[in-house]
Amino acid sequence: MHTFPAERTAVVTGAASPRGIGRATAHRLAGAGWSIGLLDVDGDACAELAEEISRGSGVAAAGVGVDVSDAAAVRAAVDRLEAGLPPVVGLVNVAGVSSPTPYLELEDDEWHRVLRINLDGVHHVTSRVAQSMVRGGVGRVVSISSVSAQRGGGTFSKTPYSVSKAGVIGLTRALARELGPHGITVNAIAPGPIDTDIMGGRLSEERKVELVADLLVDRVGTTEDIAGAVSFLLAEESGFITGHTLNVDGGLYMH
Ligand SMILES: NC(=O)c1ccc[n+]([C@@H]2O[C@H](COP(=O)([O-])OP(=O)(O)OC[C@H]3O[C@@H](n4cnc5c(N)ncnc54)[C@H](O)[C@@H]3O)[C@@H](O)[C@H]2O)c1
Repeated sequence: MHTFPAERTAVVTGAASPRGIGRATAHRLAGAGWSIGLLDVDGDACAELAEEISRGSGVAAAGVGVDVSDAAAVRAAVDRLEAGLPPVVGLVNVAGVSSPTPYLELEDDEWHRVLRINLDGVHHVTSRVAQSMVRGGVGRVVSISSVSAQRGGGTFSKTPYSVSKAGVIGLTRALARELGPHGITVNAIAPGPIDTDIMGGRLSEERKVELVADLLVDRVGTTEDIAGAVSFLLAEESGFITGHTLNVDGGLYMH
């Protein structure tokens, strides 16, 4: 069994948006001593966040702009990150898009757009980063699915989103099986409603009340709720957890 190197990097995708899960996660991991590699389609915001993180937490951080749906660009972007950071031990796949179009109005382009970013994107980044983790003999992969995968939507996004997030769970289980012998764990997190801007903009107080009505706790989730779960699954002590989907959803889905 390989232990974590003292200096190690977590790559976090989708961390650029100001009120998003990725940003909170990147800050949380930096606070736990991880060096941080950021990938987001918004390259400028990514670079600024990297600076903010290294100033604030004193860890090494770098950000590269890339569309995760472009496999070749992802490989090149990870090459750039790796050139200036400690070995990559963690990967957090956060980048994703919502899609509220009803199925009967859905056009092919929208279906493919969502699948390419939310599912192919996770595959592209994981496939490239797994090569490095296999060489290092240890790794932690966490991908953000959604309770939408388990409940067939029911929040804001509809069919292609649900399908893409169900795909992330399938990918997680298959990779847990194949990468386990290389010392790599692979898990997913299924968030319930989290207070970010992905559900058509900032949540109004009325919208929060509607969302909370379906939950067992009396509030919507925060980005810190997800960042804490990611940090737990990325930790060295979590090496016996793999192939798991952790619901962080205020009790919205019980299974
Ligand atoms: N907020 C919720 O309620 C909720 C619930 C369940 C799952 N999720 C999932 O959590 C993840 C983060 O969501 P969020 O709420 O922080 O949303 P967000 O919109 O704030 O963040 C999404 C990030 O992904 C980036 N991104 C989008 N397309 C990209 C692409 N093609 N390549 C690279 N980066 C790209 C965006 O620039 C942004 O920084 C998403 O995968 C989302 O589906 C969110």
